[in-house]
Amino acid sequence: MIMIRSNIALIGLGVMGKSLTLNLLDQGFNVTGFDISELHRERAKLEGIQVSTSAENKGQLNIVESLEALLASLEQPRVIALSVPAGNIVDSVIDELLSAGLETDDIVIDTGNSLWTDTEARAQRYQGKLRFISTAVSGGEVGARTGPALMASGEQSAWQFVEPMWTAIAAKVDTSGTPVGQFEQGEPCAAYLGPAGAGHYVKMVHNGIEYADMQLICEAYHFMSVVLGMPANKIGQVFVKWNQGALNSYLMEISADILQTPDPVTNKPFVEIVLDKAGQKGTGLWTAVNSLQTGAPAPTIAQAVFARAQSSQKNTRLKGSALFQSQRPAHSGLDKDEIISQLHDALYCSKLSVYAQGFDLLKATSKMEGWQLDFTTIANIWRAGCIIRAAFLQDIATTYQTVPDIENLLFAQSFKTSLSQYSTGWRHSVANAALNGVPMPGISSALNYFDSLTSAVLPANLLQAQRDYFGSHTYSRINAPEEEKYHLTWNLEQRDQVKQ
Ligand code: 6PG
Repeated sequence: MIMIRSNIALIGLGVMGKSLTLNLLDQGFNVTGFDISELHRERAKLEGIQVSTSAENKGQLNIVESLEALLASLEQPRVIALSVPAGNIVDSVIDELLSAGLETDDIVIDTGNSLWTDTEARAQRYQGKLRFISTAVSGGEVGARTGPALMASGEQSAWQFVEPMWTAIAAKVDTSGTPVGQFEQGEPCAAYLGPAGAGHYVKMVHNGIEYADMQLICEAYHFMSVVLGMPANKIGQVFVKWNQGALNSYLMEISADILQTPDPVTNKPFVEIVLDKAGQKGTGLWTAVNSLQTGAPAPTIAQAVFARAQSSQKNTRLKGSALFQSQRPAHSGLDKDEIISQLHDALYCSKLSVYAQGFDLLKATSKMEGWQLDFTTIANIWRAGCIIRAAFLQDIATTYQTVPDIENLLFAQSFKTSLSQYSTGWRHSVANAALNGVPMPGISSALNYFDSLTSAVLPANLLQAQRDYFGSHTYSRINAPEEEKYHLTWNLEQRDQVKQ
């Protein structure tokens, strides 16, 4: 009997690894699977049998119990994708593969949510020992199974080798940028984005945007629920309507669905039986920290991380709520339909603001790292498969294609027009939230980003003077070259300006 060699191996058959495996089988690739958990191996074997094609030598799954058997099962050069938790475990598995006989021409792909600087370090560490690339995967379980967005980077020859497999399993869009079905033809949402680290960096920013986008939607829901007293399913119906227009996006679609889902135990709206304490695995935090470190402001992403942190302080919030309840103003005289329409506009503008912050962060780090990220490609591959897919990513892609070096996404003519049209509703929503004592940290932060971005004058003049006053930190004058630094002797008797 002729042994069928696999085209690729998957190490880690948990939710994501198993889903990628089944997707590869669907596309006719032969796959070897390995996991240290017997349960995971068995589960993948069972599901794999149902998926494997009847075509000879195609779409076959081979589950193995050792890395030696895994290496022996693959055609050469060997391609091994890791779907293991981020962190040291990635290095341990690669080291074990090397001990088991991995060769210099073989390719290892990290598909996890690794920190981008770890990926850069790994590329250095394994140089000359194997060909290392990373492919960040977005789309959760369903995406991995039927078409994720794939953000690749690292050794280019390795990417060229795996590209046919990755483009086959990726999500696809038609010529208008609309996602198409798993087995339909279209432009794949998979791309090589640059040197090691670049793909994971782009995925990290994707997740930062994801955190902020989720927070914005939650704030609109919260306002309608608390101030307008709308039941969850009615808010869900509003979201369904919004999802048919400018706000069309995956996160809006699932939020609408969630809000209309009853709890199977109590039959109450499901959302109302879920404890309001948000968890996080950390990619949003990485993005916020990176924004602070690079100085490219992404305040709404940071605010979304803070909002999750503050949500988990439930006991403190309960005490605070009891303590200050009497001081919370009651709303009066608000026109419900008008408020809902304002919230729509606030959500649209805030989303734009968040995506602009994310792309600005990408621009800053791309410059610092010398990656030359292509923002059109990034917007294109985010149009389907990933969690932040949204109809307006097509407009973002078009913007970067037309004006590649645009200073800020919000300056694009099409977005400028929408912002002018919708900003009144944005301002009213933030004002209403403040007046009603309902938190809207994401939406108001997005507005503050926009207002700062479009303010020719900010009070940093006073701030610089304060710094100079107490710490002799110097200032520049508006009527002298900026590089010239001055210090004022603040003592009245010796008042003088000294050029530094
Ligand atoms: C994706 C998601 C995915 C994961 C998040 C969850 O693109 O498919 O971003 O990577 O769901 O990391 O993050 P939190 O647990 O931190 O919310």
